[in-house]
Amino acid sequence: MSVFILGIESSCDDTSAAVIADGIIRSNVIAGQDVHRKYGGVVPELASRAHQQNIVPVVELALREAGITRDEVSAVGFTKGPGLMGSLLVGASFAKGFALARNIPLIEVNHLHAHILVHFIEEQGNKPTFPSFPFICLLVSGGHTQLVMVRDHLDIEVLGQTIDDAAGEAFDKCAKIMGIPYPGGPGIDRNSKQGNPHAFRFPRPSLQGLDYSFSGLKTSFLYFLRDRQKNDPRFIEGNINDLCASLQFTIVEILIANLIMASRQTGVKRIALAGGVAANSALREAVVEYGNKNGWEVFLPKPSYTTDNAAMIAITAYFKYLNGDFSSHDSVPVARVSFKT
Ligand code: KG4
Ligand code: ZN
Repeated sequence: MSVFILGIESSCDDTSAAVIADGIIRSNVIAGQDVHRKYGGVVPELASRAHQQNIVPVVELALREAGITRDEVSAVGFTKGPGLMGSLLVGASFAKGFALARNIPLIEVNHLHAHILVHFIEEQGNKPTFPSFPFICLLVSGGHTQLVMVRDHLDIEVLGQTIDDAAGEAFDKCAKIMGIPYPGGPGIDRNSKQGNPHAFRFPRPSLQGLDYSFSGLKTSFLYFLRDRQKNDPRFIEGNINDLCASLQFTIVEILIANLIMASRQTGVKRIALAGGVAANSALREAVVEYGNKNGWEVFLPKPSYTTDNAAMIAITAYFKYLNGDFSSHDSVPVARVSFKT
């Protein structure tokens, strides 16, 4: 008999539900929330309210698209954290209600863990090459930037992480300064295609080891633009493509430098990307290019699995299900959490 996992993701501003059958994706429904756009960032109060509106129709659609009924679901996985508390509570409460009503296991999932395990989602009729263990994953999203060693589906060690802003935050905050709508990463990526990545040079952090820092870049970008605008009030408009390309080049260089260092230090040459910023075309190209020259086996996630989605929650819950790793009903979401929940 098949194992059907219903996954629920509600950590930030996307309400998502997915069904995975024996590790194969059946549906992955995502309802975004345009309500935040005019505020230039996610408004937590509005996000939780939108999740509350969306959760039932999104789950119904995910089940319908998967071609199964509620009775057939074997277990329900939900995002325990990290994320916005009000948003997490909606998904967690729904998952508990569903599991209780059907008398099936409840499985809590760490959102960061889930971003990484998208590399193990199988599509019907198309068995991908899964990374073998161990592999290094650069997890880059709006809230997190981490380098991790993945030894097994459920055995992951953090090698380095940001000490301040995440890479996606650097994209989004710098985009906001330039007047590019939230989330700014995709807009910067698009503009960069027409820009010169060497037009402007921004400082790199001088950290030892495998940790990251992006707050200095954001501040120097802001001051650089203020200075230039004193003489030329239309400096941003006149140089938008070059600014985007140069900023993106800097962020990618910072990200890759530690990835290379981690590979050299550990001798591991299987390299994966995950998280929203893994959709960035320059980052993907840079990893592939360096990898080709240096014997890396590179694993890039499908763009639709980079940003937040419930398929990643369902696949992680699937591996926890196989391991008998179930949660009790007094499990509570946590807004800030290190790698393991
Ligand atoms: O993983 P995600 O959906 O949410 C978090 O868990 O944070 O990541 C969202 C982040 C945002 O910062 C967004 O700007 C960034 O991913 N992002 C990109 C691109 N697409 C999404 N950043 C750079 N280039 C892109 N193409
Ligand atoms: Zn995420």
